[in-house]
Amino acid sequence: TVGWQAGIIGCPRVLLEVPSRTATSTLPYLPGARPCIPKDFGHGSLVCVCNATYCDTLDPLVLPAPGSYVKYESSKAGKRLERSEGNPALPAGLLLTLNISTLYQHVKGFGGSLSDAAAINILKLSQPAQDNLLRSYFSESGIEYNLVRVPMASSDFSVRPYSYDDVPNDYELKHFRLADEDVKMKIPLLRRALAMSKRPLLLFASPWTAPGWMKSNGDVRGKGTLKGKAGDKYHKSWANYFIKFLDEYAKHNVTFWAVTAQNEPLAGLLTPPQAPTIAFTAAQQRDFIAQDLGPALARSPHRTQLLMLDDQRSHLPHWAKVVKSSAASFPPASRPSPGVGANRVCRSGSRSRLLPELPPPRVPSGSEDRRCPVIVDGSKDVFYKQPMFYHMGHFSKFIPEGSRRVGLHSSRRCLLCQLEHVAVLRPDGALVLVVLNRFGRDVPFGIRDPAMGVIETVAPAHSIQTYLWQQE
Ligand SMILES: *[C@@H]1O[C@H](CO)[C@@H](O)[C@H](O)[C@H]1NC(C)=O
Ligand SMILES: *[C@@H]1O[C@H](CO)[C@@H](O)[C@H](O)[C@H]1NC(C)=O
Ligand SMILES: *[C@@H]1O[C@H](CO)[C@@H](O)[C@H](O)[C@H]1NC(C)=O
Repeated sequence: TVGWQAGIIGCPRVLLEVPSRTATSTLPYLPGARPCIPKDFGHGSLVCVCNATYCDTLDPLVLPAPGSYVKYESSKAGKRLERSEGNPALPAGLLLTLNISTLYQHVKGFGGSLSDAAAINILKLSQPAQDNLLRSYFSESGIEYNLVRVPMASSDFSVRPYSYDDVPNDYELKHFRLADEDVKMKIPLLRRALAMSKRPLLLFASPWTAPGWMKSNGDVRGKGTLKGKAGDKYHKSWANYFIKFLDEYAKHNVTFWAVTAQNEPLAGLLTPPQAPTIAFTAAQQRDFIAQDLGPALARSPHRTQLLMLDDQRSHLPHWAKVVKSSAASFPPASRPSPGVGANRVCRSGSRSRLLPELPPPRVPSGSEDRRCPVIVDGSKDVFYKQPMFYHMGHFSKFIPEGSRRVGLHSSRRCLLCQLEHVAVLRPDGALVLVVLNRFGRDVPFGIRDPAMGVIETVAPAHSIQTYLWQQE
């Protein structure tokens, strides 16, 4: 089955057949960094090959002694999160100066989406290879993602259209039940990921579509709006559907940190007609949250946060302003008003980002696949960790929840010498600086932390680096 391809962030939306392979034995966890086994598919950079018995790993993070720093580097030339240590030296031409008195937004975390396609592809691997894949993402020997997004019922990453209640006019949701995709695939994988994660792993759920009978177009596929208007039986049923979802997952001991009000509420304008979506304007979403979803969550036993606008950044800040204008009409403040759905990879204060797709659908085949961190080839029982995997790791492994972006001043502003950079202060007081060089030449630069001195260093052509040091 082939789905549709779209999305600014994330992997190509190509869907694959259901897996047939059954589990074999389990590989014991082996600590200690193991190197990348490189493979070149001819698309400009290398992937690292993993299978049932081998996967490159990272050592758990150890902060350097005060007065020195560690550097992790990945590059087009072939480095993958390679560690080295150094001591501060003399100033260089381009100087990045930290100012930890200037504090910006908190980081919630980094992660990926466990869609049906993701689960299906992961489960195509043998159990030991699955373990290597999950460890690569979630364990201390991997890049330690702490967020997972879970689609509620079918998305455009599914092999069939469905909702959790396809019995027409079942306003009481008496026939609500989770799908095999949840019970047999996503929940078992989530439990394994939760078990191997050292950090608290936060889950959030997002609906793509309501049952067809609640939608104006009568089908889970395609763009429709919810029938009726906020406060009516359709909107109440749709709000209760979220609660049923949380109830059912709780029965499997899987709890959610948050739900989002709607995946891509403005999708459907640009996407093919079979893509499952419900369209909302900001004002419609505000009214639905204020009159239906907010009160339903507040009445429920779930301490679940509510996020909104998992959609294009270009809708900010307008969308957030409109939806938050209802904050006053929220039920007694047992929960915060909706936050903006975000993976704050980036340094702009308002930037929101969908999480990339966890499981990659096929062998690397060019530009469309570059954004997938991992590609699975079930027929060979291997998976490929693409440059994007390590790119994400440059943030996710080093910037834990609760870190804050801090001031970083560049001594030079010119187009071709400017590196992209962001600095954060971790909750343990260590500082992290990530530097991206998109250009084809090496850029020498210095990092000045007034409390430490100057690190004189080079950002190699086409590379990303993470620097880490403790405050004295
Ligand atoms: C798994 O990968 C390792 C390292 O590349 C290789 O030595 C081994 O033969 C592979 N195993 C299988 C079953 O292909
Ligand atoms: C550092 O940030 C603080 C707070 O924003 C500001 O008052 C101070 O001038 C900054 N220091 C430098 C050297 O820019
Ligand atoms: C959920 O957790 C409880 C308490 O730890 C346990 O008794 C129960 O068997 C678990 N349920 C599932 C479905 O794992």
